[in-house]
Amino acid sequence: MTAHHFDVIIIGSGAAGLTAAINLADKFKVAVLAKGALSDGSTAWAQGGIAAVLEPGDTFDSHIEDTIVAGAGLNNRKTVEFVVENAPDAIEKLAELGVPFNAGESERWHLTREGGHSHRRIVHVNDATGWAVQQALEKAANDHPNITLIPDMVAIDLITGRHGETYSVAPNVWGVYAVSRKTGRVSSYIARATILATGGAGRTYLYSTAPRGATGDGIAMAWRAGARVSNMEFNQFHPTCLYNLDIKNFLITEALRGEGAHLKIPTTGERFMPRFDERAELAPRDIVARAIDHEIKRLGLDFVHLDISHKPADFIREHFPNIHAKLLGLGIDITRDPIPVVPAQHYTCGGVLTDLNARTDLPGLYAAGEVAQSGLHGANRLASNSLLECFVFGAAAARDIAANWDDLPPAPAIRPWDESRVSDSDEEVVVQQCWREIRQFMWNFVGIVRTTKRLERAKHRIDLLRREIADYYGHFRVTPDLIELRNLVEVADLIVRSALLRKESRGLHYTLDYPNMLPNARDTVLIP
Ligand code: FAD
Ligand code: SIN
Repeated sequence: MTAHHFDVIIIGSGAAGLTAAINLADKFKVAVLAKGALSDGSTAWAQGGIAAVLEPGDTFDSHIEDTIVAGAGLNNRKTVEFVVENAPDAIEKLAELGVPFNAGESERWHLTREGGHSHRRIVHVNDATGWAVQQALEKAANDHPNITLIPDMVAIDLITGRHGETYSVAPNVWGVYAVSRKTGRVSSYIARATILATGGAGRTYLYSTAPRGATGDGIAMAWRAGARVSNMEFNQFHPTCLYNLDIKNFLITEALRGEGAHLKIPTTGERFMPRFDERAELAPRDIVARAIDHEIKRLGLDFVHLDISHKPADFIREHFPNIHAKLLGLGIDITRDPIPVVPAQHYTCGGVLTDLNARTDLPGLYAAGEVAQSGLHGANRLASNSLLECFVFGAAAARDIAANWDDLPPAPAIRPWDESRVSDSDEEVVVQQCWREIRQFMWNFVGIVRTTKRLERAKHRIDLLRREIADYYGHFRVTPDLIELRNLVEVADLIVRSALLRKESRGLHYTLDYPNMLPNARDTVLIP
Protein backbone atom coordinates (compact mmCIF):
# COMPACT_ATOMS: atom_id res chain seq x y z
CA MET A 1 0.00 0.00 0.00
CA THR A 2 1.28 3.46 -0.86
CA ALA A 3 1.34 6.25 1.71
CA HIS A 4 1.10 9.83 0.41
CA HIS A 5 2.17 12.67 2.71
CA PHE A 6 0.83 16.26 2.50
CA ASP A 7 0.44 19.12 4.97
CA VAL A 8 -3.34 19.19 4.62
CA ILE A 9 -5.75 16.67 3.09
CA ILE A 10 -9.08 18.01 1.84
CA ILE A 11 -11.79 15.51 1.01
CA GLY A 12 -14.11 17.12 -1.52
CA SER A 13 -13.61 19.39 -4.52
CA GLY A 14 -16.77 21.50 -4.39
CA ALA A 15 -17.14 25.09 -3.18
CA ALA A 16 -16.03 24.33 0.40
CA GLY A 17 -13.06 22.11 -0.43
CA LEU A 18 -11.61 24.24 -3.19
CA THR A 19 -12.08 27.46 -1.22
CA ALA A 20 -10.12 25.93 1.66
CA ALA A 21 -7.41 24.68 -0.71
CA ILE A 22 -6.94 28.06 -2.40
CA ASN A 23 -6.71 29.78 0.99
CA LEU A 24 -4.11 27.29 2.30
CA ALA A 25 -1.90 26.85 -0.73
CA ASP A 26 0.42 29.82 -0.30
CA LYS A 27 1.78 28.22 2.90
CA PHE A 28 1.01 24.51 2.71
CA LYS A 29 1.14 21.49 0.41
CA VAL A 30 -2.47 20.48 -0.06
CA ALA A 31 -4.14 17.43 -1.63
CA VAL A 32 -7.80 17.60 -2.69
CA LEU A 33 -9.53 14.22 -3.11
CA ALA A 34 -12.74 13.79 -5.08
CA LYS A 35 -14.58 10.54 -5.45
CA GLY A 36 -15.37 11.11 -9.12
CA ALA A 37 -14.67 13.99 -11.48
CA LEU A 38 -13.75 17.24 -9.72
CA SER A 39 -17.03 18.90 -10.70
CA ASP A 40 -19.34 16.01 -9.75
CA GLY A 41 -20.51 17.58 -6.44
CA SER A 42 -23.62 19.69 -5.82
CA THR A 43 -21.73 22.94 -6.32
CA ALA A 44 -21.67 22.60 -10.09
CA TRP A 45 -25.44 22.03 -10.10
CA ALA A 46 -26.43 25.12 -8.13
CA GLN A 47 -28.78 27.29 -10.11
CA GLY A 48 -30.22 30.23 -8.16
CA GLY A 49 -27.12 31.94 -6.77
CA ILE A 50 -25.45 33.26 -3.63
CA ALA A 51 -27.09 35.46 -0.99
CA ALA A 52 -25.41 38.67 0.25
CA VAL A 53 -26.46 42.12 1.40
CA LEU A 54 -25.68 44.25 -1.64
CA GLU A 55 -28.95 46.10 -2.41
CA PRO A 56 -29.22 49.71 -1.21
CA GLY A 57 -31.61 49.71 1.74
CA ASP A 58 -30.86 46.06 2.64
CA THR A 59 -29.04 45.43 5.95
CA PHE A 60 -27.07 42.66 7.66
CA ASP A 61 -29.77 42.65 10.35
CA SER A 62 -32.42 41.91 7.74
CA HIS A 63 -30.44 38.99 6.22
CA ILE A 64 -29.77 37.68 9.74
CA GLU A 65 -33.46 37.89 10.69
CA ASP A 66 -34.59 36.21 7.43
CA THR A 67 -32.12 33.37 8.06
CA ILE A 68 -33.37 32.86 11.61
CA VAL A 69 -37.06 33.08 10.64
CA ALA A 70 -36.50 30.44 7.91
CA GLY A 71 -34.51 28.34 10.42
CA ALA A 72 -37.44 28.42 12.90
CA GLY A 73 -35.23 29.94 15.59
CA LEU A 74 -32.88 26.98 15.87
CA ASN A 75 -29.94 28.83 14.29
CA ASN A 76 -26.87 29.85 16.25
CA ARG A 77 -27.07 33.66 16.05
CA LYS A 78 -23.28 34.08 16.24
CA THR A 79 -22.80 31.78 13.25
CA VAL A 80 -25.51 33.57 11.28
CA GLU A 81 -23.91 36.96 11.99
CA PHE A 82 -20.46 35.64 11.06
CA VAL A 83 -21.64 34.26 7.72
CA VAL A 84 -23.89 37.18 6.75
CA GLU A 85 -21.24 39.77 7.60
CA ASN A 86 -18.61 37.91 5.56
CA ALA A 87 -20.89 37.46 2.53
CA PRO A 88 -20.11 40.61 0.51
CA ASP A 89 -16.38 39.92 0.87
CA ALA A 90 -16.84 36.31 -0.26
CA ILE A 91 -18.69 37.49 -3.39
CA GLU A 92 -15.94 40.01 -4.10
CA LYS A 93 -13.28 37.26 -3.90
CA LEU A 94 -15.26 35.09 -6.34
CA ALA A 95 -15.53 38.01 -8.75
CA GLU A 96 -11.73 38.41 -8.48
CA LEU A 97 -11.34 34.73 -9.36
CA GLY A 98 -13.33 35.44 -12.52
CA VAL A 99 -16.91 34.37 -11.70
CA PRO A 100 -18.92 36.39 -14.25
CA PHE A 101 -21.89 37.45 -12.11
CA ASN A 102 -24.71 39.03 -14.13
CA ALA A 103 -24.45 42.81 -14.17
CA GLY A 104 -27.31 44.96 -12.85
CA GLU A 105 -28.88 47.91 -14.63
CA SER A 106 -28.05 50.55 -12.02
CA GLU A 107 -26.20 48.35 -9.48
CA ARG A 108 -22.91 46.51 -10.08
CA TRP A 109 -24.63 43.09 -10.06
CA HIS A 110 -28.13 41.96 -10.87
CA LEU A 111 -29.80 40.68 -7.69
CA THR A 112 -32.63 38.20 -7.86
CA ARG A 113 -35.09 37.27 -5.16
CA GLU A 114 -35.90 33.93 -3.55
CA GLY A 115 -38.38 32.62 -0.95
CA GLY A 116 -37.87 33.84 2.62
CA HIS A 117 -35.67 36.80 1.61
CA SER A 118 -37.17 40.20 2.32
CA HIS A 119 -34.86 41.89 -0.21
CA ARG A 120 -33.36 41.21 -3.61
CA ARG A 121 -30.17 39.58 -2.43
CA ILE A 122 -29.01 36.83 -4.77
CA VAL A 123 -26.05 37.34 -7.11
CA HIS A 124 -26.08 34.82 -9.94
CA VAL A 125 -24.69 33.76 -13.30
CA ASN A 126 -27.90 33.34 -15.29
CA ASP A 127 -29.57 30.18 -13.94
CA ALA A 128 -26.34 28.16 -13.70
CA THR A 129 -24.38 29.93 -10.95
CA GLY A 130 -22.80 26.79 -9.52
CA TRP A 131 -21.19 25.76 -12.77
CA ALA A 132 -19.51 29.17 -13.14
CA VAL A 133 -18.30 29.07 -9.51
CA GLN A 134 -16.96 25.52 -9.84
CA GLN A 135 -15.06 26.38 -13.04
CA ALA A 136 -13.45 29.48 -11.47
CA LEU A 137 -12.41 27.60 -8.30
CA GLU A 138 -11.05 24.63 -10.26
CA LYS A 139 -9.01 26.94 -12.45
CA ALA A 140 -7.50 28.73 -9.44
CA ALA A 141 -6.72 25.39 -7.75
CA ASN A 142 -5.26 23.91 -10.91
CA ASP A 143 -3.02 26.93 -11.40
CA HIS A 144 -1.49 26.67 -7.91
CA PRO A 145 1.69 24.56 -7.68
CA ASN A 146 1.01 23.62 -4.04
CA ILE A 147 -2.39 22.04 -4.76
CA THR A 148 -2.59 18.43 -5.97
CA LEU A 149 -6.04 17.56 -7.31
CA ILE A 150 -6.83 13.84 -7.09
CA PRO A 151 -10.11 12.83 -8.77
CA ASP A 152 -11.53 9.27 -8.68
CA MET A 153 -10.19 8.66 -5.18
CA VAL A 154 -12.91 7.48 -2.77
CA ALA A 155 -12.27 8.12 0.92
CA ILE A 156 -13.11 5.11 3.07
CA ASP A 157 -12.32 6.05 6.67
CA LEU A 158 -10.45 8.74 8.59
CA ILE A 159 -7.06 7.84 10.02
CA THR A 160 -6.93 8.20 13.82
CA GLY A 161 -4.77 6.97 16.71
CA ARG A 162 -6.34 3.51 16.26
CA HIS A 163 -4.58 3.24 12.88
CA GLY A 164 -1.11 3.99 14.25
CA GLU A 165 1.61 1.30 14.09
CA THR A 166 1.48 1.77 17.84
CA TYR A 167 -2.21 1.64 18.71
CA SER A 168 -3.49 4.63 20.66
CA VAL A 169 -6.86 6.05 21.63
CA ALA A 170 -5.73 9.58 20.62
CA PRO A 171 -8.73 11.25 19.00
CA ASN A 172 -6.54 13.13 16.47
CA VAL A 173 -7.27 12.74 12.78
CA TRP A 174 -4.27 12.37 10.45
CA GLY A 175 -5.78 11.94 7.00
CA VAL A 176 -7.75 9.21 5.33
CA TYR A 177 -7.63 5.79 3.67
CA ALA A 178 -8.97 5.97 0.12
CA VAL A 179 -9.50 3.59 -2.78
CA SER A 180 -8.75 4.45 -6.39
CA ARG A 181 -11.66 3.98 -8.76
CA LYS A 182 -9.17 3.21 -11.53
CA THR A 183 -6.94 0.61 -9.88
CA GLY A 184 -9.09 -0.59 -6.98
CA ARG A 185 -6.04 -0.14 -4.70
CA VAL A 186 -6.25 1.46 -1.25
CA SER A 187 -3.71 4.17 -0.25
CA SER A 188 -3.29 6.26 2.86
CA TYR A 189 -3.26 10.06 2.55
CA ILE A 190 -1.52 11.35 5.66
CA ALA A 191 -1.46 14.95 6.94
CA ARG A 192 -1.42 17.07 10.10
CA ALA A 193 -4.85 18.50 9.27
CA THR A 194 -7.83 17.06 7.40
CA ILE A 195 -10.83 18.98 6.08
CA LEU A 196 -14.10 17.22 5.32
CA ALA A 197 -15.84 18.99 2.44
CA THR A 198 -17.82 16.02 1.19
CA GLY A 199 -21.23 17.68 0.74
CA GLY A 200 -24.62 16.35 1.78
CA ALA A 201 -26.58 13.12 1.98
CA GLY A 202 -29.46 13.74 -0.44
CA ARG A 203 -29.18 10.34 -2.01
CA THR A 204 -30.47 8.74 1.19
CA TYR A 205 -33.84 9.59 -0.41
CA LEU A 206 -35.44 8.11 -3.51
CA TYR A 207 -36.04 11.51 -5.07
CA SER A 208 -33.37 14.17 -4.65
CA THR A 209 -32.04 17.09 -6.65
CA ALA A 210 -28.54 16.18 -5.44
CA PRO A 211 -26.00 14.39 -7.64
CA ARG A 212 -25.32 10.65 -7.44
CA GLY A 213 -22.41 11.01 -4.99
CA ALA A 214 -24.36 12.80 -2.23
CA THR A 215 -24.26 9.78 0.09
CA GLY A 216 -23.20 11.48 3.32
CA ASP A 217 -19.70 9.95 3.31
CA GLY A 218 -18.12 12.71 5.39
CA ILE A 219 -20.85 12.61 8.03
CA ALA A 220 -20.55 8.83 8.34
CA MET A 221 -16.71 8.90 8.44
CA ALA A 222 -16.64 11.61 11.13
CA TRP A 223 -19.25 9.74 13.19
CA ARG A 224 -17.28 6.49 13.00
CA ALA A 225 -14.14 8.38 14.03
CA GLY A 226 -15.89 9.75 17.12
CA ALA A 227 -17.20 13.24 16.22
CA ARG A 228 -20.62 14.46 17.28
CA VAL A 229 -23.30 14.85 14.61
CA SER A 230 -26.22 17.23 14.93
CA ASN A 231 -29.69 18.12 13.56
CA MET A 232 -29.83 15.28 11.05
CA GLU A 233 -33.64 15.26 11.12
CA PHE A 234 -33.71 18.48 9.09
CA ASN A 235 -33.70 17.47 5.44
CA GLN A 236 -34.79 20.20 3.11
CA PHE A 237 -37.20 19.30 0.33
CA HIS A 238 -37.04 21.72 -2.60
CA PRO A 239 -40.60 22.49 -3.68
CA THR A 240 -39.99 22.45 -7.41
CA CYS A 241 -38.15 19.54 -8.98
CA LEU A 242 -39.20 18.74 -12.57
CA TYR A 243 -41.74 15.91 -12.74
CA ASN A 244 -40.54 13.74 -15.59
CA LEU A 245 -40.49 9.96 -15.76
CA ASP A 246 -37.03 9.88 -17.37
CA ILE A 247 -35.23 12.84 -15.76
CA LYS A 248 -35.70 12.47 -12.04
CA ASN A 249 -33.56 15.18 -10.49
CA PHE A 250 -33.72 18.37 -12.55
CA LEU A 251 -34.25 21.37 -10.31
CA ILE A 252 -36.46 24.29 -11.33
CA THR A 253 -34.82 27.17 -9.51
CA GLU A 254 -36.63 29.08 -6.80
CA ALA A 255 -35.65 32.23 -8.71
CA LEU A 256 -38.57 31.46 -11.06
CA ARG A 257 -40.94 32.08 -8.17
CA GLY A 258 -38.76 35.03 -7.17
CA GLU A 259 -39.41 36.53 -10.57
CA GLY A 260 -43.17 35.93 -10.36
CA ALA A 261 -43.98 32.30 -11.27
CA HIS A 262 -47.19 30.91 -9.74
CA LEU A 263 -47.96 27.46 -8.38
CA LYS A 264 -51.25 26.09 -9.73
CA ILE A 265 -53.51 23.04 -9.52
CA PRO A 266 -53.19 21.42 -12.98
CA THR A 267 -56.87 20.42 -13.23
CA THR A 268 -58.42 23.80 -12.31
CA GLY A 269 -55.62 26.33 -12.83
CA GLU A 270 -56.20 27.57 -9.23
CA ARG A 271 -53.23 29.45 -7.72
CA PHE A 272 -53.17 27.69 -4.33
CA MET A 273 -50.25 29.16 -2.33
CA PRO A 274 -52.22 32.20 -1.05
CA ARG A 275 -54.43 29.70 0.86
CA PHE A 276 -51.36 28.52 2.81
CA ASP A 277 -49.28 31.62 3.51
CA GLU A 278 -49.61 35.37 3.04
CA ARG A 279 -46.23 35.38 1.26
CA ALA A 280 -47.72 32.89 -1.22
CA GLU A 281 -45.02 31.48 -3.56
CA LEU A 282 -42.32 33.42 -1.69
CA ALA A 283 -42.88 31.70 1.65
CA PRO A 284 -39.86 29.69 2.94
CA ARG A 285 -39.27 26.34 1.29
CA ASP A 286 -40.61 24.09 4.05
CA ILE A 287 -43.99 25.82 3.86
CA VAL A 288 -44.17 25.69 0.05
CA ALA A 289 -43.02 22.04 -0.10
CA ARG A 290 -45.60 21.01 2.53
CA ALA A 291 -48.36 22.91 0.72
CA ILE A 292 -47.56 21.12 -2.55
CA ASP A 293 -47.37 17.76 -0.77
CA HIS A 294 -50.75 18.49 0.84
CA GLU A 295 -52.43 19.39 -2.47
CA ILE A 296 -50.90 16.40 -4.29
CA LYS A 297 -52.16 14.02 -1.59
CA ARG A 298 -55.58 15.75 -1.18
CA LEU A 299 -56.38 15.69 -4.89
CA GLY A 300 -54.50 12.50 -5.86
CA LEU A 301 -52.27 14.40 -8.29
CA ASP A 302 -48.91 13.32 -9.72
CA PHE A 303 -47.61 16.92 -9.75
CA VAL A 304 -48.61 20.57 -9.57
CA HIS A 305 -47.86 23.28 -12.13
CA LEU A 306 -45.30 26.08 -11.89
CA ASP A 307 -46.25 28.77 -14.37
CA ILE A 308 -44.23 31.81 -15.45
CA SER A 309 -45.80 32.09 -18.92
CA HIS A 310 -47.57 35.36 -17.98
CA LYS A 311 -44.16 37.13 -18.05
CA PRO A 312 -42.73 38.45 -21.34
CA ALA A 313 -41.08 35.68 -23.38
CA ASP A 314 -37.84 37.67 -23.81
CA PHE A 315 -37.57 38.21 -20.04
CA ILE A 316 -37.95 34.46 -19.42
CA ARG A 317 -35.42 33.46 -22.05
CA GLU A 318 -32.92 36.05 -20.81
CA HIS A 319 -33.19 35.17 -17.09
CA PHE A 320 -33.54 31.39 -17.36
CA PRO A 321 -31.69 30.37 -20.53
CA ASN A 322 -30.64 26.90 -19.31
CA ILE A 323 -34.00 25.90 -17.88
CA HIS A 324 -35.73 27.24 -20.99
CA ALA A 325 -33.44 25.25 -23.31
CA LYS A 326 -33.54 22.07 -21.21
CA LEU A 327 -37.34 22.01 -21.01
CA LEU A 328 -37.75 22.94 -24.68
CA GLY A 329 -35.83 19.75 -25.40
CA LEU A 330 -38.51 17.90 -23.41
CA GLY A 331 -41.36 19.54 -25.31
CA ILE A 332 -42.17 22.21 -22.67
CA ASP A 333 -41.91 25.84 -23.83
CA ILE A 334 -41.90 27.72 -20.50
CA THR A 335 -42.76 31.00 -22.25
CA ARG A 336 -46.17 29.38 -23.02
CA ASP A 337 -46.56 26.18 -20.98
CA PRO A 338 -46.65 25.48 -17.23
CA ILE A 339 -43.97 23.16 -15.78
CA PRO A 340 -45.01 19.95 -13.94
CA VAL A 341 -43.19 19.94 -10.57
CA VAL A 342 -42.95 17.90 -7.34
CA PRO A 343 -40.92 18.38 -4.14
CA ALA A 344 -37.66 16.41 -3.82
CA GLN A 345 -34.94 16.15 -1.17
CA HIS A 346 -32.51 19.00 -1.79
CA TYR A 347 -30.28 19.84 1.16
CA THR A 348 -28.91 18.24 4.35
CA CYS A 349 -29.17 20.88 7.11
CA GLY A 350 -27.59 18.68 9.78
CA GLY A 351 -24.08 17.26 9.82
CA VAL A 352 -20.80 17.17 11.69
CA LEU A 353 -20.90 19.67 14.55
CA THR A 354 -18.46 22.56 13.96
CA ASP A 355 -17.52 25.87 15.55
CA LEU A 356 -16.81 29.27 13.98
CA ASN A 357 -13.36 28.04 12.93
CA ALA A 358 -14.84 24.96 11.20
CA ARG A 359 -13.26 22.78 13.89
CA THR A 360 -14.97 19.48 14.73
CA ASP A 361 -14.66 17.65 18.07
CA LEU A 362 -11.57 15.78 16.85
CA PRO A 363 -8.17 17.53 16.89
CA GLY A 364 -6.91 18.03 13.32
CA LEU A 365 -10.35 17.43 11.76
CA TYR A 366 -12.27 20.31 10.19
CA ALA A 367 -15.57 20.29 8.29
CA ALA A 368 -16.98 22.91 5.93
CA GLY A 369 -19.98 23.20 3.62
CA GLU A 370 -22.97 20.90 3.47
CA VAL A 371 -21.23 18.15 5.49
CA ALA A 372 -21.19 20.44 8.55
CA GLN A 373 -23.75 21.62 11.07
CA SER A 374 -22.26 25.03 11.72
CA GLY A 375 -25.37 26.56 13.28
CA LEU A 376 -26.17 28.65 10.19
CA HIS A 377 -29.31 26.96 8.91
CA GLY A 378 -31.17 25.89 12.05
CA ALA A 379 -34.30 23.89 11.26
CA ASN A 380 -34.51 25.01 7.61
CA ARG A 381 -31.97 26.59 5.27
CA LEU A 382 -32.76 29.95 3.72
CA ALA A 383 -32.35 29.78 -0.07
CA SER A 384 -28.87 30.56 -1.43
CA ASN A 385 -27.23 30.61 1.99
CA SER A 386 -25.41 27.32 1.45
CA LEU A 387 -22.85 28.19 -1.21
CA LEU A 388 -22.14 31.16 0.99
CA GLU A 389 -21.52 28.88 3.98
CA CYS A 390 -18.99 26.92 1.87
CA PHE A 391 -16.95 30.04 1.05
CA VAL A 392 -17.03 31.46 4.58
CA PHE A 393 -16.17 28.21 6.39
CA GLY A 394 -13.73 26.95 3.74
CA ALA A 395 -11.75 30.13 4.39
CA ALA A 396 -12.26 29.88 8.18
CA ALA A 397 -10.82 26.35 8.28
CA ALA A 398 -7.77 27.50 6.30
CA ARG A 399 -7.23 30.46 8.66
CA ASP A 400 -7.47 28.28 11.75
CA ILE A 401 -5.04 25.67 10.40
CA ALA A 402 -2.50 28.37 9.53
CA ALA A 403 -2.89 30.08 12.92
CA ASN A 404 -2.48 26.83 14.90
CA TRP A 405 -0.09 24.88 12.70
CA ASP A 406 2.56 24.44 15.37
CA ASP A 407 0.03 22.96 17.79
CA LEU A 408 -1.10 20.28 15.32
CA PRO A 409 0.99 17.17 16.06
CA PRO A 410 2.55 15.38 13.07
CA ALA A 411 1.15 11.94 12.27
CA PRO A 412 2.75 8.88 13.90
CA ALA A 413 3.65 5.86 11.72
CA ILE A 414 0.36 4.66 10.21
CA ARG A 415 -0.54 1.03 9.56
CA PRO A 416 -1.20 0.04 5.97
CA TRP A 417 -4.75 -0.93 4.93
CA ASP A 418 -5.35 -4.56 5.82
CA GLU A 419 -6.92 -6.75 3.13
CA SER A 420 -5.69 -10.06 4.49
CA ARG A 421 -9.14 -11.25 5.54
CA VAL A 422 -11.31 -10.19 2.61
CA SER A 423 -11.99 -11.49 -0.89
CA ASP A 424 -13.69 -10.12 -4.00
CA SER A 425 -17.45 -9.86 -3.66
CA ASP A 426 -19.46 -12.77 -5.03
CA GLU A 427 -22.83 -11.03 -4.74
CA GLU A 428 -22.83 -7.45 -6.05
CA VAL A 429 -26.63 -7.64 -6.20
CA VAL A 430 -26.72 -7.23 -2.39
CA VAL A 431 -25.34 -3.70 -2.73
CA GLN A 432 -27.92 -2.61 -5.32
CA GLN A 433 -30.80 -4.21 -3.40
CA CYS A 434 -29.89 -2.58 -0.05
CA TRP A 435 -29.29 0.78 -1.70
CA ARG A 436 -32.77 0.73 -3.33
CA GLU A 437 -34.48 -0.40 -0.13
CA ILE A 438 -32.97 2.39 1.97
CA ARG A 439 -33.89 5.15 -0.45
CA GLN A 440 -37.43 3.83 -0.86
CA PHE A 441 -38.33 3.56 2.82
CA MET A 442 -36.59 6.84 3.68
CA TRP A 443 -38.82 8.53 1.08
CA ASN A 444 -42.00 6.83 2.29
CA PHE A 445 -41.43 6.88 6.06
CA VAL A 446 -39.01 9.76 6.76
CA GLY A 447 -40.20 12.34 4.21
CA ILE A 448 -41.98 15.70 4.32
CA VAL A 449 -44.68 14.61 6.81
CA ARG A 450 -43.65 12.13 9.52
CA THR A 451 -45.21 10.09 12.33
CA THR A 452 -43.53 8.19 15.15
CA LYS A 453 -44.87 4.92 13.76
CA ARG A 454 -43.40 5.57 10.31
CA LEU A 455 -40.04 6.50 11.87
CA GLU A 456 -40.04 3.32 13.94
CA ARG A 457 -40.80 1.27 10.81
CA ALA A 458 -37.80 2.87 9.11
CA LYS A 459 -35.62 2.21 12.19
CA HIS A 460 -36.46 -1.54 12.20
CA ARG A 461 -35.45 -1.82 8.56
CA ILE A 462 -32.25 0.14 9.14
CA ASP A 463 -31.22 -2.10 12.05
CA LEU A 464 -31.60 -5.18 9.88
CA LEU A 465 -29.76 -3.66 6.91
CA ARG A 466 -26.96 -2.31 9.10
CA ARG A 467 -26.19 -5.84 10.30
CA GLU A 468 -26.27 -7.24 6.76
CA ILE A 469 -24.11 -4.46 5.36
CA ALA A 470 -21.58 -4.70 8.22
CA ASP A 471 -21.28 -8.44 7.58
CA TYR A 472 -20.81 -7.86 3.85
CA TYR A 473 -18.23 -5.11 4.50
CA GLY A 474 -16.31 -7.41 6.83
CA HIS A 475 -15.94 -10.14 4.21
CA PHE A 476 -15.36 -8.39 0.90
CA ARG A 477 -12.84 -6.02 -0.65
CA VAL A 478 -14.04 -2.38 -0.65
CA THR A 479 -15.55 -0.93 -3.82
CA PRO A 480 -16.88 2.62 -4.31
CA ASP A 481 -20.48 1.30 -4.28
CA LEU A 482 -19.95 -0.66 -1.06
CA ILE A 483 -18.33 2.35 0.62
CA GLU A 484 -21.31 4.52 -0.30
CA LEU A 485 -23.83 1.92 0.84
CA ARG A 486 -22.10 1.58 4.21
CA ASN A 487 -22.28 5.36 4.61
CA LEU A 488 -25.84 5.62 3.35
CA VAL A 489 -27.17 3.22 5.98
CA GLU A 490 -25.14 5.01 8.68
CA VAL A 491 -26.59 8.38 7.71
CA ALA A 492 -30.14 6.99 7.37
CA ASP A 493 -29.76 5.74 10.95
CA LEU A 494 -28.55 9.16 12.15
CA ILE A 495 -31.51 10.86 10.43
CA VAL A 496 -34.11 8.53 11.92
CA ARG A 497 -32.59 8.55 15.42
CA SER A 498 -32.53 12.35 15.38
CA ALA A 499 -36.12 12.53 14.10
CA LEU A 500 -37.30 10.18 16.87
CA LEU A 501 -35.63 12.37 19.49
CA ARG A 502 -37.43 15.56 18.41
CA LYS A 503 -40.79 15.73 20.15
CA GLU A 504 -42.11 18.76 18.27
CA SER A 505 -42.62 20.06 14.73
CA ARG A 506 -40.10 22.70 13.78
CA GLY A 507 -38.95 23.87 10.36
CA LEU A 508 -38.34 20.90 8.12
CA HIS A 509 -39.21 18.31 10.75
CA TYR A 510 -43.00 17.99 10.68
CA THR A 511 -44.63 15.14 12.58
CA LEU A 512 -48.34 14.51 13.00
CA ASP A 513 -47.69 13.13 16.51
CA TYR A 514 -46.18 16.39 17.78
CA PRO A 515 -47.66 19.09 15.51
CA ASN A 516 -46.69 22.05 17.73
CA MET A 517 -43.38 23.82 18.22
CA LEU A 518 -41.91 23.76 21.74
CA PRO A 519 -41.07 27.13 23.36
CA ASN A 520 -37.31 26.46 23.50
CA ALA A 521 -35.28 25.70 20.39
CA ARG A 522 -32.75 22.93 21.05
CA ASP A 523 -30.28 21.26 18.68
CA THR A 524 -30.36 17.48 18.43
CA VAL A 525 -26.84 16.27 19.19
CA LEU A 526 -25.87 12.62 18.77
CA ILE A 527 -22.78 11.49 20.68
CA PRO A 528 -20.88 8.43 19.31
P1 FAD B 1 -20.21 19.49 -2.95
O1 FAD B 1 -20.15 20.58 -3.94
O2 FAD B 1 -21.39 18.58 -3.00
O3 FAD B 1 -18.89 18.63 -3.16
C1 FAD B 1 -18.69 17.43 -2.46
C2 FAD B 1 -17.34 16.89 -2.84
O4 FAD B 1 -16.98 15.84 -1.97
C3 FAD B 1 -17.26 16.31 -4.25
O5 FAD B 1 -16.04 16.69 -4.84
C4 FAD B 1 -17.24 14.81 -4.00
O6 FAD B 1 -16.57 14.07 -5.00
C5 FAD B 1 -16.48 14.75 -2.70
N1 FAD B 1 -16.69 13.53 -1.93
C6 FAD B 1 -17.82 13.11 -1.31
N2 FAD B 1 -17.61 11.94 -0.71
C7 FAD B 1 -16.32 11.61 -0.96
C8 FAD B 1 -15.51 10.50 -0.64
N3 FAD B 1 -15.95 9.44 0.06
N4 FAD B 1 -14.22 10.48 -1.09
C9 FAD B 1 -13.72 11.51 -1.83
N5 FAD B 1 -14.44 12.58 -2.15
C10 FAD B 1 -15.74 12.62 -1.73
N6 FAD B 1 -27.05 26.47 -2.78
C11 FAD B 1 -27.01 27.80 -2.91
O7 FAD B 1 -26.51 28.49 -2.03
N7 FAD B 1 -27.51 28.39 -4.03
C12 FAD B 1 -28.07 27.69 -5.05
O8 FAD B 1 -28.50 28.25 -6.04
C13 FAD B 1 -28.14 26.28 -4.92
N8 FAD B 1 -28.71 25.52 -5.89
C14 FAD B 1 -28.66 24.16 -5.78
C15 FAD B 1 -29.14 23.37 -6.83
C16 FAD B 1 -29.05 21.99 -6.77
C17 FAD B 1 -29.56 21.15 -7.90
C18 FAD B 1 -28.47 21.37 -5.63
C19 FAD B 1 -28.37 19.88 -5.54
C20 FAD B 1 -28.01 22.15 -4.58
C21 FAD B 1 -28.10 23.54 -4.65
N9 FAD B 1 -27.61 24.33 -3.62
C22 FAD B 1 -27.59 25.69 -3.76
C23 FAD B 1 -26.89 23.74 -2.49
C24 FAD B 1 -25.38 23.84 -2.75
O9 FAD B 1 -25.13 23.61 -4.12
C25 FAD B 1 -24.61 22.84 -1.93
O10 FAD B 1 -24.99 22.89 -0.59
C26 FAD B 1 -23.11 23.15 -1.99
O11 FAD B 1 -22.70 23.24 -3.34
C27 FAD B 1 -22.32 22.08 -1.28
O12 FAD B 1 -20.95 22.31 -1.54
P2 FAD B 1 -19.87 21.43 -0.81
O13 FAD B 1 -18.56 21.99 -1.21
O14 FAD B 1 -20.20 21.31 0.62
O15 FAD B 1 -20.07 19.97 -1.45
C1 SIN C 1 -32.62 27.24 -6.30
O1 SIN C 1 -32.06 27.77 -7.26
O2 SIN C 1 -33.83 27.19 -6.15
C2 SIN C 1 -31.75 26.61 -5.29
C3 SIN C 1 -31.27 27.64 -4.37
C4 SIN C 1 -30.77 26.99 -3.14
O3 SIN C 1 -30.88 25.79 -2.98
O4 SIN C 1 -30.27 27.73 -2.30
